Amino acid sequence: MTNEPVVIITGASRGIGAWVARWLNEVNARLTLVARASKDLENIGREIEANKGNVLIVPADVADSSACLNVVEKTLKKFGRIDALVNNAGILEPVSHIADCKPEQFRHNILVNLLGPFYLTQGSISALRKSQGRVINVSSGAATKPIAAWSAYCTAKAGLTHFTRVLAQDEPQITAVSIRPGVVDTHMQELIRQKGPEIMPPDLANYFINLKKEGKLEPPWVPARTIAWLALKAPLEISGEFLDYDDPRFFKQANDFLGAQPPI
Ligand SMILES: NC(=O)c1ccc[n+]([C@@H]2O[C@H](COP(=O)([O-])OP(=O)(O)OC[C@H]3O[C@@H](n4cnc5c(N)ncnc54)[C@H](OP(=O)(O)O)[C@@H]3O)[C@@H](O)[C@H]2O)c1
Repeated sequence: MTNEPVVIITGASRGIGAWVARWLNEVNARLTLVARASKDLENIGREIEANKGNVLIVPADVADSSACLNVVEKTLKKFGRIDALVNNAGILEPVSHIADCKPEQFRHNILVNLLGPFYLTQGSISALRKSQGRVINVSSGAATKPIAAWSAYCTAKAGLTHFTRVLAQDEPQITAVSIRPGVVDTHMQELIRQKGPEIMPPDLANYFINLKKEGKLEPPWVPARTIAWLALKAPLEISGEFLDYDDPRFFKQANDFLGAQPPI
């Protein structure tokens, strides 16, 4: 019997989530990796296995409650416990002013960014109570900053951040935090650079374009390291907090525990 922690990571097929998986594999965590079915997800799974990982791949759309419950069931069947849930899967779209926003797209954003974390948290709650485990919700600066044409995303992330605070109240044995990962060089930023100039205020669209041009986007392995550390070590006394990825209380500890260089 192994005692290595078991962590479910959603949105593990690329970007921040894939790096959370790589960091956690470095310390031998057993991982359930979730995203919609894709070659990318299979590839990350193979990469982790090739690095001696113990990994379960569960393709699932987190907007679907029964798919989320299936993730939890399969994890418990394979590993027998859950120590942490990292709700990282997220989408930006629709990028559209409220007047023009298609209701179905708005609804879908809320389903993926907010309902998905709820379904997975609720499904994992008894296992997390048993393990006195952790829920790490990947939120955004958009949870507190209103951004024109991002109504669904801002609303969902504000909801996710506040959901985390309530979770901390409801479940005193579980450590629940939300985190702002910074402005990160992933597919989501590519989309912002593509869609932004058509519709976002020019200052803001240019801000994102210039961060990329000037090499100032955060590489995904950096916030992923803080998230991975929190999944294993976040102390109960911070439960409910909305954290920055570079919070000085944890940034150095994450660096010291997991390493200063990306695990590849
Ligand atoms: N990049 C940034 O600057 C930034 C800033 C603030 C917050 N964030 C947050 O960080 C998290 C990770 O984003 P990222 O930047 O790494 O973006 P990304 O590269 O676009 O990755 C998003 C991940 O979510 C998965 N996903 C999307 N829809 C899904 C669904 N319905 N069901 C299951 N998985 C789904 C994607 O996989 P599939 O498409 O294969 O399903 C992918 O693995 C998100 O919650 C995002 O809001 C990012």
